Amino acid sequence: MVGVVGLGTMGAGIAEVFARAGLRVIGVEADPEALARGRGHLERSTGRAVDRGKLTGGERDEILGRITLTTSRDDLRDADLVVEAIPEILDYKVSLLEDLDRICKPETVLATNTSSLSVTAVAAATGRPGRVIGLHFFNPAPVMRLVEVVGTVVTEPSVVAGITELSVRLGKTPVTVGDRAGFVVNRLLLPYLNQAAVLLDLGLAGRDEIDAAMRLGVGLPMGPFALLDLIGLDTAYEIMGVLFDETRDRRHAPAPVLRELVTAGLLGRKTGRGFHGDETAPREPEQVAGVTFGVAGDDPSSIAEALTKAGFAGSDDPDVLLRFSDRPVVEHAVRLRRPSSLVGVHLVGDRVAELAATVLTSPEAARAAAGLMTAIGRTPVPCKDRAGFVVDALLYPYLNDAVRMYDSGYASIADIDAAMRLGCGYPAGPFEMLESLGLARVRDGLRALYAEHREPAYAPAPLLDHLVTAGMTALPRP
Ligand code: CAA
Repeated sequence: MVGVVGLGTMGAGIAEVFARAGLRVIGVEADPEALARGRGHLERSTGRAVDRGKLTGGERDEILGRITLTTSRDDLRDADLVVEAIPEILDYKVSLLEDLDRICKPETVLATNTSSLSVTAVAAATGRPGRVIGLHFFNPAPVMRLVEVVGTVVTEPSVVAGITELSVRLGKTPVTVGDRAGFVVNRLLLPYLNQAAVLLDLGLAGRDEIDAAMRLGVGLPMGPFALLDLIGLDTAYEIMGVLFDETRDRRHAPAPVLRELVTAGLLGRKTGRGFHGDETAPREPEQVAGVTFGVAGDDPSSIAEALTKAGFAGSDDPDVLLRFSDRPVVEHAVRLRRPSSLVGVHLVGDRVAELAATVLTSPEAARAAAGLMTAIGRTPVPCKDRAGFVVDALLYPYLNDAVRMYDSGYASIADIDAAMRLGCGYPAGPFEMLESLGLARVRDGLRALYAEHREPAYAPAPLLDHLVTAGMTALPRP
């Protein structure tokens, strides 16, 4: 029998996962209102599965029938495992664990679904630290296949083994790691999401454009702002605070816009509004006609061909000059007779074109460039002329962080790749992405980011640098 304390989005999802696996579940909430909200989560989630033909009505009734809801923690006295999923505040968790330690039988395993807090600190609040473990699910818990199983230096090996085995029985893929802030996924994911919020705040590009760049360009299931809204901005803010406290890395300082939204009560999906939720009518794609174009820089032929096919004329004295560049675009602009017509272009995958306007680019040229990209079937992502534009500025530091994590000995390449694929639905893990982009290209992109921002964390990880220097194109795998 399993207890789940806290039936918010995560707790209700976790209760559903156990009940789907045939286990009896006791779900505990603080008061009747919160309990009713938890019941609502369970009914909606399983109802959606029935609507999609994934469960029959009878199966749904059986699943819900295995879950007993209560406001009394004392009902957990006979549970074999209790998972807590209450808010991400250490004092709350410590006080809950003290209570559970008193209520539950001595052999009960107490698990915390903390996203980033120290499992060791939570364990130390109890008289059974060897039977306390981290069991971290991903939102939506019934869908995402990963669980992180977090053992501390005092967790009994048999408890780690038992929980790992149980995770497999739940249909999940466990990745077993030690107790570091953010574990694998949040340590890699949240700094990327936080950085997206910083770029938005700096006006580098718009919310929908950044979301589109990462979703359509990189193939992620959601853009960073849609994902922040799913996770909850309060949760994201708390996690960043914990990461910052451990690392003192400036990139881990919560983005000011997160604090502002949280203070305003705009927490994302759970309150109906966060980064998204104030949508007006979607912006019509730019349409242009009769614009002449020039293309310069590396490999301009593919885009020139596509534009010619779409009926646009090339010209040496163009309305708009598109320039592929890995240097600041403005360095090219200042050498031109008409710098106002220059727009930097960076194609991302098959569907996105980042368009960097310099301080000299005219609004007409920027609009024309967006229209040209729309005409050839690419989503334009207008942005400022900064190293890495949007995608590389978000993706490369994430890849660099993954190399540093592996090099620190915290987790294997296979586990890190699996964690990001199964925890976040990424099409590939960071090492798979790194190898398909090319180690040298990412290393050079990081150098450009470092040169521009002088941010130590952007300096290529020594391992990456050495692999490129040694002429390697893949990471060494055992
Ligand atoms: N509850 C239950 N089931 C849900 C659900 C929910 N909230 N949301 C979606 N689903 C199910 C749907 O029923 C559907 O199931 P079937 O395939 O069995 O029919 C499936 O998920 C796909 O849903 P949709 O077709 O509606 O939507 P989609 O294809 O756009 O997928 C998504 C939605 C699964 C959320 C997908 O966008 C995704 O994988 N996003 C990334 C989510 C992510 O990164 N999660 C981790 C966040 S980090 C975290 O949680 C850790 C932390 O500590 C903060």
